Amino acid sequence: MDKALLSKTAAAMVAGGKGVLAADESAGTCEKRFSSVGVECTEENRRTYRNLLFSTQGVEKFLSGVILFDETVRQKANDGSLIPQYLAKKGILPGVKVDKGLVNIPFTKEEKVTEGLDGLQKRMKEYFDLGCRFAKWRAVITIGADIPTHTCIYANAHALARYAAICQEASIVPMIEPEVLLDGDHTAERSEEVHEATLRATYAAMAAYNVSIEHLILKTSMVVSGKSNARQAGVDEVAERTVRVLRRTVPAAQPGIVFLSGGQSDESATAHLNAMAAMKNPWPLTFSYSRALQNPALKAWRGQTGNVAAAQKAFHHRAQMNGLASQGKWKAELEKQAA
Ligand code: 13P
Repeated sequence: MDKALLSKTAAAMVAGGKGVLAADESAGTCEKRFSSVGVECTEENRRTYRNLLFSTQGVEKFLSGVILFDETVRQKANDGSLIPQYLAKKGILPGVKVDKGLVNIPFTKEEKVTEGLDGLQKRMKEYFDLGCRFAKWRAVITIGADIPTHTCIYANAHALARYAAICQEASIVPMIEPEVLLDGDHTAERSEEVHEATLRATYAAMAAYNVSIEHLILKTSMVVSGKSNARQAGVDEVAERTVRVLRRTVPAAQPGIVFLSGGQSDESATAHLNAMAAMKNPWPLTFSYSRALQNPALKAWRGQTGNVAAAQKAFHHRAQMNGLASQGKWKAELEKQAA
């Protein structure tokens, strides 16, 4: 375990004005995204699309890192170098999603736990040799009648902690992602309660497995109203509730916190981040979005070479807006542009 390297990586991931692009969609998720714009989900199309994103000129000003899917770690950039090396040359940290997806937990209402711990130590060593400097593991917590159960929260917290310890041992910074889904008709109050219970259990498990808080990044969902609840909490309420939960549960020793977008609109994800980053917090806050960074680019691209420039422009714009939001400067910039 190289503590100096872990510290350097974690600090770089949340460096001022930058955030992380999640481009680690599994082949199945990628299929869904591609089919929404009429693109066939072949290995070559996935490579082409991701290269479009990574080769966007100047995007490195706003991206500290990219989370890759295993397939992409082994693919080549347009200049012939392996993608992790290509990113590193641009000053962007290559990361990798190492979990193997979700399975149902027996004797629950189809609550999920994340698989992928078997053989992880060996895989982690290989990822380090391939240039990956951080990793991601996503756990999913669903809100509904009588759920999440203690069983679900506990099982996921322990898997996250075992994963995080394995990462640190291999000198790879663990990004731990306990995502509380926004699907459902629950209130923002209920989301806040579930986030608190989830994060408490997660950090208790980190302590139980001797995970070093100084070398850890949390990737969290925001406390928003359930998607189908008629009352949607506004930007300030989301920011207040989210930051309150984080202050209660996340140690100040941690180098930073990043957010997923979780199906929020692009603008909402940016506005929420901006409001939170404008508060005085013990840790830097930034983005680690997939959909909220990629959606406009994907829609502009539609698999056509002639659309690459427009897609890159759209991607650059969202990255820039979120870079500003991570410093609490997005709203002021919008007002300036409107004036
Ligand atoms: P979204 O921002 O689309 O929620 O994706 C982030 C992510 O990495 C989910 O695991």
